[in-house]
Amino acid sequence: MRFVIPTLFGLEGLTADELRYIGFDNVTTENGRVFFDGDFEEMARANIRCRMGERVLLLLGQFTAESFEDLFQGVRAIDWDQWLDKKDAFPVKGWSLNSTLHSVPDCQKIIKKAIVERLSQRYKLSWFEESGPTVQVQFSIMKNEVMIMLDTSGAGLHKRGYRANAGAAPLRETLAAGMIDLAHVRQGSLVLDPMCGSGTLLVEAAMKARGISPGLMRRFACEKWSCFPEEVFKKERQAARSLIRKDIGFRARGFDIDKAAVELSRENAKKAHVDDLIEFRRQDVRRLVLPKNDCILLCNPPYGERLLDREAAEEIYEILGQRTPPAPGHSYYFITSHEEFETFYGRRADKRRKLYNGMLECQFYMYYKNHLGGDWNGKSNKSAGPRRVHA
Ligand SMILES: C[S@@+](CC[C@H](N)C(=O)[O-])C[C@H]1O[C@@H](n2cnc3c(N)ncnc32)[C@H](O)[C@@H]1O
Repeated sequence: MRFVIPTLFGLEGLTADELRYIGFDNVTTENGRVFFDGDFEEMARANIRCRMGERVLLLLGQFTAESFEDLFQGVRAIDWDQWLDKKDAFPVKGWSLNSTLHSVPDCQKIIKKAIVERLSQRYKLSWFEESGPTVQVQFSIMKNEVMIMLDTSGAGLHKRGYRANAGAAPLRETLAAGMIDLAHVRQGSLVLDPMCGSGTLLVEAAMKARGISPGLMRRFACEKWSCFPEEVFKKERQAARSLIRKDIGFRARGFDIDKAAVELSRENAKKAHVDDLIEFRRQDVRRLVLPKNDCILLCNPPYGERLLDREAAEEIYEILGQRTPPAPGHSYYFITSHEEFETFYGRRADKRRKLYNGMLECQFYMYYKNHLGGDWNGKSNKSAGPRRVHA
């Protein structure tokens, strides 16, 4: 079987690395999606363990279609009865971009018709009541290239099960996981978030450090499929549980000016079984004091779009700049859509990466080299001392 994992733009390479690390074969990437090979075990394992992917889709067919007839024939050629029992519900959804077949509702109808025709031949039925488990059929058409897939996940993989309530502008868990990867959070790290909101960054970091798979607390659509072998999920969940580490040096501290946000973070950490690793406290970022020890600061400040107005956000960036001076062993990471973040923060990032927070194009600003005085306006922003090693 070939699988497709859609990702947020900018996280394709990291997701591919993660899948290779888990041990999947033939991992390849393209814009916004990652592919790999596997069987039912890998289907379950990817759902349970993948931190950055949005969902796991099973690829059933791939062909070119410039007409509805091409689409119909391509879909009918798939061995649908291998996947669908006669009572299963099989709704169809998808999207089309830069293609001759641009009407999504028409494509949906044609695909449904082709599946029904194929199943009618096999089951000798002219009517399908669709009263059984749902097997969601998903299609994508890009430049006339069609992919027909089954959604094995159901709810998106960012729904881990620990964040029933989110704050005002929460980060998607999959994006938070990507940022944590880029910040090289490890089992022994000390991680800070001075504006933690619902605590997503720290909870995700702690789960990763402890080895808690993101999908351990939830169920997946394919578990209910008639064709899915029993015991596979039980085995994979057991294997995932065996990866949980008890004694780790990881610690985290989260602050927010909003009392409700602090309480929410605590609740979320508890639900994720990492509350013993994270300390949350109400604190204004103006009072932030960094520890002397090595630490990683991750922050998703207001962008001046939804939470604060632009000027107030800019003032926060200035404060962040003052409270996080370059220091050996310290690294700082910020995500924002504000194009002039570096100007207000006061230093040019050592590295930046384009990431999308929902529809918002953002930059992830990374500061990890040790600086010796000067700011980037003063052109004396030389890197000094040993470069922080991200091993
Ligand atoms: C974009 S949200 C962070 C969302 C968070 N990453 C999450 O996933 O829920 C920004 C947070 O900054 C907090 N905040 C605003 N001004 C602050 C200040 N002066 N000091 C500390 N926190 C502040 C807000 O209360 C809000 O929770």
